[in-house]
Amino acid sequence: MASGWTPSNLSELELADGEAYHRALYHDGSAEHPTSWHGNSVAHLIDLAVPHIHDGALVVDYGTGTGGSAIELLKVLDARGISINLILIDPLVSWFYKAREILGERHNIHFELSITEDENGNMRFRTMQEMLGEQKVDVIISASTLHLVPEKALPDLGTQFASSLKPDGIFVWNSGDIQSSLCPADAALLHDPYRMVRAHLRDDTLRMTRMEEMGDDEASSFERRVDRIFPIPYSIEIILDAFDSAGMNSQLSSHVVEFTSEDAERFILVPRLAAIAAPLHEGDERDSAVKDAIRAVLVKMRAEGTANEVAYRSHWVYGFHKLA
Ligand SMILES: C[S@@+](CC[C@H](N)C(=O)[O-])C[C@H]1O[C@@H](n2cnc3c(N)ncnc32)[C@H](O)[C@@H]1O
Repeated sequence: MASGWTPSNLSELELADGEAYHRALYHDGSAEHPTSWHGNSVAHLIDLAVPHIHDGALVVDYGTGTGGSAIELLKVLDARGISINLILIDPLVSWFYKAREILGERHNIHFELSITEDENGNMRFRTMQEMLGEQKVDVIISASTLHLVPEKALPDLGTQFASSLKPDGIFVWNSGDIQSSLCPADAALLHDPYRMVRAHLRDDTLRMTRMEEMGDDEASSFERRVDRIFPIPYSIEIILDAFDSAGMNSQLSSHVVEFTSEDAERFILVPRLAAIAAPLHEGDERDSAVKDAIRAVLVKMRAEGTANEVAYRSHWVYGFHKLA
């Protein structure tokens, strides 16, 4: 049985959100059947990490979500007979509960919810040191998460990672949503289609009508919140600077991963992500607007050369860091 955080009092909407994200990664919700984009994007990350993972190693998955990266890592390690202690970390209960549901029966897995309320009642991220205590880690992986960390928080996160690693420990990550000169002209960033959906729906007549039901102040802070679902991607240099300042060496590689049109539609209909169409009402009103928009966006991407008839091409960067 796993240890650490356990979910409680989740609403039906939160449960549905985690289930939908899990199903955006796994066909029919079966951990045996990853979608091609999830399987392919995380496989390269695992290839980088596994040579550094030995029997008994302490491994952290930073940004576990519904468990997609941890599930794939454990499949590879199980097949090789390598047993590890794994610490899973995430701030989002509506996705993290699903990881606990899938992996909670395994031994040697520990769950840490990475947000907490401060003394003024505001939410804040817990530091690695708060979550790990005295433990030092052999390998930190972080799949599809770094681009969600605000730019100004990255240097401190780099320092936290550097001081959590054993002297020969490594940190490996991937992201499909980082700007870099490595991106070929016929590929897009992972979230480009969804930012295009947001742009497509921004002036949608029904959405505008719903917006008018809000006061001006409320409307502008609402729009800012919606824009944060798929933030404007920053450049790879920002990440490299953060880890360099924290005393780590960096090696980069990249891969193009095809994301099928059906998978893109399933992905953007995950309730937390479909909220880019808010305040259109949740349910049919929002979902049908999102479906129409993603279909129109994919047609546009085909014309621009970043998608073909069945998929768009997403460009993924992989970072590998050791203490200098
Ligand atoms: C796209 S999911 C990736 C989940 C998992 N690693 C996978 O590969 O399926 C990104 C995760 O990052 C978490 N996250 C979002 N903002 C974050 C932040 N500022 N710091 C740390 N984690 C964050 C989210 O809760 C989410 O579960």
